Parts: sequence; structure tokens; C-alpha cells
Amino acid sequence: MSKHAMIDLKVVKRDGTKLTLQASPGMSVMEALRDNGLDELLALCGGCCSCATCHIYVEAGPDGVDEVGGADEDDLLESSDHRRHNSRLSCQITLGSAMSGLVVRVAPED
Ligand code: FES
Repeated sequence: MSKHAMIDLKVVKRDGTKLTLQASPGMSVMEALRDNGLDELLALCGGCCSCATCHIYVEAGPDGVDEVGGADEDDLLESSDHRRHNSRLSCQITLGSAMSGLVVRVAPED
């Protein structure tokens, strides 16, 4: 398999619809969702970890993907009424080739 093989990313939308998207390694999950036209994820700050409108739940995936990346992300998630144990900001998850099989669910809007 080539180093630049696309990654399959499974997404559950707010209405429960399931999609499988193709993403390039190195993109964030937020960018992959946005570039595939998933407009229910607002991602207002464009990925600089200051808006929390890219909130998703990690439903399945490699170990550690559901662990919050840092204090800024943790603070923003704390401001959401919909935080769960598997909450992440999708702009803070970088897709790597080991991420195939990742399943994310779009969190409700705050
Ligand atoms: S896009 Fe704003 S925090 Fe992720």
C-alpha cells in the first residue's frame, strides 16, 4: 500500500445517517468532513481550536483518539452542554494511516 493511501473515515450525522468518506493522511477530521461537504459541522474558527463548533464523538478507532489533546481543547469541550467521555474537537485530530476504521459522530449543536 502506498504511503499516501486514502483513509476511510466513517461519520454518523446528527440525523443518524452513516457515511464513509475518503480523506488524505495529514488532514484533520474537521477538514475531511468540511471538504466532503458535511456542512452541519460549522467549524467556525477554521481549525484553530477556539470555537468548539467542530465537536464530535469518537465512536470507534485506535486507542487514544478519544483522549483530549490539551488544555485548550479540554476547556472548550467543558463549555459544551453535550460533552461526553468520548468528545473531541475534530480539528484537533490529525488523520494518519493508522486511523483507518475511525468512526465519529457529529455532536449536537450547543
Ligand atoms: S474548528 Fe473551531 S475548535 Fe475546531
